[in-house]
Amino acid sequence: MFLMCHSMLLAKLALLIVLPFLLLCYGVGNAHSSTVHDNRNDLRSLLDFKQRICNPFGAMNWTTSTHFCRWNGVVCSSTPPYRVTELNLPGKNLDGNISSALGNLTSLRTLDLSDNRFRGPIPILGKLQHLNTLSLGGNLLQGDITEALTNCSKLAFLNLTSNNLNGVIPAKIRSLSNLETIILDSNHLTGGIPVAQGNITTLQFLSFSQNQLNGRIPHEVMRMPNITCLYLNQNNLSGEIPEVWQMPNILELDLSVNNLSGRIPQDLSNVSSLQALSLAANMLGNTLPNHFDGHIPVSIGNPPCLEAIDLSNNYFTGQIPNSLGNLAELSYLNLGRNMLQSTDNEGWEFLRALGNCSSLTEFSLSSNKLQGASIPNSVVNLSTSLTRLLMSDNILSGIVPPSIGKLSALIQLSLDQNNLTGTVEEWVGNMTKLERLNLQSNSFVGTIPPSIGHLTQLTHLFLAENQFTGFIPNSLGNLKQMLTLDLSYNNFQGSIPVELSGEIPDTMGQFQQIYAIRMDQNVLKGNIPITFSNLKSLTKLNLSHNNLSGPVPACLKDLESLTKLDLSFNNFQGEIPRDGAFNNATIVSLSGNPGLINYLIEILVPIFGFMSLIMLIYITIHRKKHAPRRPDLLLLSFGKKFPRVTYKDLAHATGNFSESNLIGRGGCGSVYRGKLTQAKIKVAIKVFNLEIKFADKSFISECEALRTIRHRNLLPTLTACSTIDNSGNDFKALIYEFMPNGNLDTWLHNKRGGVALKLLGLPQRISIANDIADALAYLHHDCARPIVHCDLKPTNILLDDDMNANLGDFGIASPIDSRSKAVGHSACSSSLAVMGTIGYIAPEYAQIVHSSTCGDVYSFGVVLLEMIIGKRPTDSMFDGGLSINSFVERNFPDQVFHIIDIHLQEECKGFIKATSVTENKVYQCVLSLVQVALACTHPFPRDRMNMREVSINLHAIRKSYVAATK
Ligand SMILES: *[C@@H]1O[C@H](CO)[C@@H](O)[C@H](O)[C@H]1NC(C)=O
Ligand SMILES: *[C@@H]1O[C@H](CO)[C@@H](O)[C@H](O)[C@H]1NC(C)=O
Ligand SMILES: *[C@@H]1O[C@H](CO)[C@@H](O)[C@H](O)[C@H]1NC(C)=O
Ligand SMILES: *[C@@H]1O[C@H](CO)[C@@H](O)[C@H](O)[C@H]1NC(C)=O
Repeated sequence: MFLMCHSMLLAKLALLIVLPFLLLCYGVGNAHSSTVHDNRNDLRSLLDFKQRICNPFGAMNWTTSTHFCRWNGVVCSSTPPYRVTELNLPGKNLDGNISSALGNLTSLRTLDLSDNRFRGPIPILGKLQHLNTLSLGGNLLQGDITEALTNCSKLAFLNLTSNNLNGVIPAKIRSLSNLETIILDSNHLTGGIPVAQGNITTLQFLSFSQNQLNGRIPHEVMRMPNITCLYLNQNNLSGEIPEVWQMPNILELDLSVNNLSGRIPQDLSNVSSLQALSLAANMLGNTLPNHFDGHIPVSIGNPPCLEAIDLSNNYFTGQIPNSLGNLAELSYLNLGRNMLQSTDNEGWEFLRALGNCSSLTEFSLSSNKLQGASIPNSVVNLSTSLTRLLMSDNILSGIVPPSIGKLSALIQLSLDQNNLTGTVEEWVGNMTKLERLNLQSNSFVGTIPPSIGHLTQLTHLFLAENQFTGFIPNSLGNLKQMLTLDLSYNNFQGSIPVELSGEIPDTMGQFQQIYAIRMDQNVLKGNIPITFSNLKSLTKLNLSHNNLSGPVPACLKDLESLTKLDLSFNNFQGEIPRDGAFNNATIVSLSGNPGLINYLIEILVPIFGFMSLIMLIYITIHRKKHAPRRPDLLLLSFGKKFPRVTYKDLAHATGNFSESNLIGRGGCGSVYRGKLTQAKIKVAIKVFNLEIKFADKSFISECEALRTIRHRNLLPTLTACSTIDNSGNDFKALIYEFMPNGNLDTWLHNKRGGVALKLLGLPQRISIANDIADALAYLHHDCARPIVHCDLKPTNILLDDDMNANLGDFGIASPIDSRSKAVGHSACSSSLAVMGTIGYIAPEYAQIVHSSTCGDVYSFGVVLLEMIIGKRPTDSMFDGGLSINSFVERNFPDQVFHIIDIHLQEECKGFIKATSVTENKVYQCVLSLVQVALACTHPFPRDRMNMREVSINLHAIRKSYVAATK
């Protein structure tokens, strides 16, 4: 959110700068050409151009019955021989190659074919000595730009943005000695930035962002006398940045998301017109972050028009300079995720100084090392237009000055993960514009005042893990925009106000859109209001560990979106409702309510353990009215009288573990297909190779994991076998239900023994993603202790008869200590020990030895990207620091269509009618999938979505896909 605002600012500014310039260029179209060519050549060239366009009609009224100077998009010189001077056909949906005949329009000054669907190479335009403006951005052009433009010595404006161009930026570009604007961003350009020799005084606007450029930034680049906008962000540029910045006209400088290091120069007097500066490293999917360090120099306060500063995610140390207070125009300041300090009054002086910046609207100091016995009172003097104030994750203690309530324009206030105490009573009710209030994980005390009901815009309220007491105010029910309410781990008492859910059953609830309520771990008593059944969008309701009593309202079964209802450890009495969510043991948790007449499920598992689980699955599946997905017989035969499987049985089933039955080899052993003769069913048998270090442990951890978990998208394990083989060696195996459709990897990469496969369509891909997200959300959020899978990859995703996906291979899964503070919130749950598979391992695993739920989220994101673009993360195209996620991120959103799996492209096209790609609903689903995947692969674990959120998002995407294709 925070970031987007910044890039919007940059974009807005960019437009302001370029517009006047563009007008200038278009004004020069009418000068005479001295050529002796008859203009028939121009006619021939135009016809050749038109001939290569697949859909010229409608968009082009080019008929030979009228003079070509009358054709749309064509501008001719005003006097004979009427040569073509401009060809402007932007945004006409034209499809095809650009004819090289355009290279014969020797009087051409302006060629604008931007925002079409032109493919193939850039035509050779070397003969166009008058060409001044070339706009080919927003097409599908391929190949390199080496030859096309040599000799276009008059070229001043070159815009090739958003194509599929590759190769290097040719050194010859230097010969374009009149170039003022060069825009090559959002392509696949590689190599270094060509060192500018000769005259670069003309260059005013340069954007090379979102490519794969590498190497250092040449010194000359940071010394261009007339440059106003310099965008080198989102590349793989490395090394130290030049120490001297000498760009007296620079307005915007963006070096963010590279692999750069170095310091901000002490002297910024040569960039004194700077308005926006970004050295950040915190955009999605970047694996090689910038690592600028040192102090933020005092000179940062010098450029008088500096408006936006983003230094987030670096290694800046020391105090925050007071000179920031000199920046009268400052509106955006992001210093989050650095190592900035402030230990004493002097260290906090900057906050007082920032009071001078009356335009400050967004300000983040999150995740630094700010210390203080309280947040200084001077916070009150910050701009009254401040909309976001983020100070999460520092070392702040003491109280929040009540006068903070004067910051009444705030939309987001995040003070979570500090040691703040005191009450919120005096100030919270004044911030009536707040949408997000996060005070989680502090030591706040006192009550939530009724005035909280004034914050009618509130969508997210996180008060968990504090020491709040008293009643939950009825006035919370005024907050009709609420989406997530988390009051867990406090000492709230009294009953749950009926006002939250409306007073009358069957009306629209008060929390009309809420999807998550957590009030667990408090001392609430009384009944659950029956009006909770009004909260139709609720997916998660956790009231566990309170003193609630009375019956479990049967009408809760009407909450059709519920994925989790935890009422455990209360004093509920009576019978458990039978329908809806209550039929699904994976959704409802009711244990620790001694007065409830309970399912078998809660009693059996602890007593009989794993074996009874099989029976239970049988029971629960049988209860469902709808046809079960898996044959009951199978479960019946195992549930009732599971035949002990011996080594002999398994040897027999697999033809003595013959190669012909081998279906896979993993880190810890081999998987065979086989048929158990006695039970007459097909199974997959995973035999652990006990000579491999950890294999034994892996067997135990997988058994352990399987003993306690059950979910429809987890590969059903039938039994385990631990015995000795014919030669007297230890033998350990797990027996799974056989998945006839094999694993996802073979489907994605079309390599099942060379036999052409049915293709995996978009709906199937969406459904598989949903299944796996559900399974992971269950492992992370719904088990007694969160379980980390640790090795998510397509070969571990198995497909049954109906192409339902099942997550398998828990060989390295590890449960996590439930006391871990973060459980259930967006931060990670983690545990020790790690393995995984190259390509899918989260980047933080390189640095720490903990595996975490966030690591699984990352792997999930990678798998999702793989499903969309059809390339493995280990594909040779991803090297030199480019990862699958940074690659996709660079192409998001404008170029996504061109990088997705070719079959998906075809599928999306089928839905493009007269409208453009971007209006296509099906394509929007693909974009949404990509967005989720990128949010999963954020380099910083804590910024990733959690699996619960992922699952909710994917369900929504599935819904809109279904709606779009109805
Ligand atoms: C073609 O379209 C343009 C713009 O719509 C119009 O000005 C021109 O007169 C048309 N020419 C013919 C030959 O119809
Ligand atoms: C361009 O002009 C040259 C010489 O006038 C001619 O030989 C060539 O065929 C033309 N190219 C196209 C594609 O029309
Ligand atoms: C470059 O071309 C793209 C695509 O047509 C356009 O959106 C963008 O505004 C252009 N940039 C400038 C600075 O003119
Ligand atoms: C560079 O260009 C400027 C302006 O066009 C000109 O005055 C200057 O002499 C040129 N310098 C060189 C080294 O060519």
